[in-house]
Amino acid sequence: MQLFLDSADEAQIRYWLRQGVLDGVTTNPTVLRRAGVTDRTGTLAKLSDLVAPGPLHAEVTSAAGGELVSEGVELHRLASNIVVKVPVLTPEGEPCLAEISTLAEAGVRVNATACLSFGQVALAAKAGAAYASVLVGRINDEGGDGPGVLAACRRWIDDWRLPVRLVAASVRGAADAQRSMTAGAHSLTLPPDVLSALVDHKYARHTVKQFLQDAGAPHGS
Ligand code: G3P
Repeated sequence: MQLFLDSADEAQIRYWLRQGVLDGVTTNPTVLRRAGVTDRTGTLAKLSDLVAPGPLHAEVTSAAGGELVSEGVELHRLASNIVVKVPVLTPEGEPCLAEISTLAEAGVRVNATACLSFGQVALAAKAGAAYASVLVGRINDEGGDGPGVLAACRRWIDDWRLPVRLVAASVRGAADAQRSMTAGAHSLTLPPDVLSALVDHKYARHTVKQFLQDAGAPHGS
């Protein structure tokens, strides 16, 4: 299973790379805005260097059509480890499957993002997406079952031996992360605070403190 950091924060990326658990980084326009990024191309080039040979997922900002495809090709040319994120549809509900398919045929690795249903993942896979991002938290927000959608997608992908890889995204806490892993996500992208929460545990801290105290205590005490 691949683990990605959903962040453009260089210090956090370096920190988690040092922990030896990070396979790549994902971004989107919101993540870049939150990180205060003004030079998008420069930042993406820098992050792609930082995370190489792992993938940097970078999202297009055009809504659809030839403009989206050109932007996807430009992002792809920026660095060999860039995966181009393309929303599965426009805000008006027009599918971006043709754009995904054109990019895939041109040799661009596409991550079909903003998938909130099994059908969207299935069609993105048919269009040739290398990854499909299932926004687990946003499915749960509407009373759906994010991990359930992941599990159904994974069964279908395995049944048909398709090359698409599921990314569990919009993961808001440790429980969401754990459920997404066991539901069969091939990859998980986590914000830094969720990654921290995954390894932290109050009682584990207490346990380690006890071990360290006992290590320094006189024998038989
Ligand atoms: O990777 C998608 C993610 O950044 C969206 O997360 O928590 O805003 O639904 P969230």
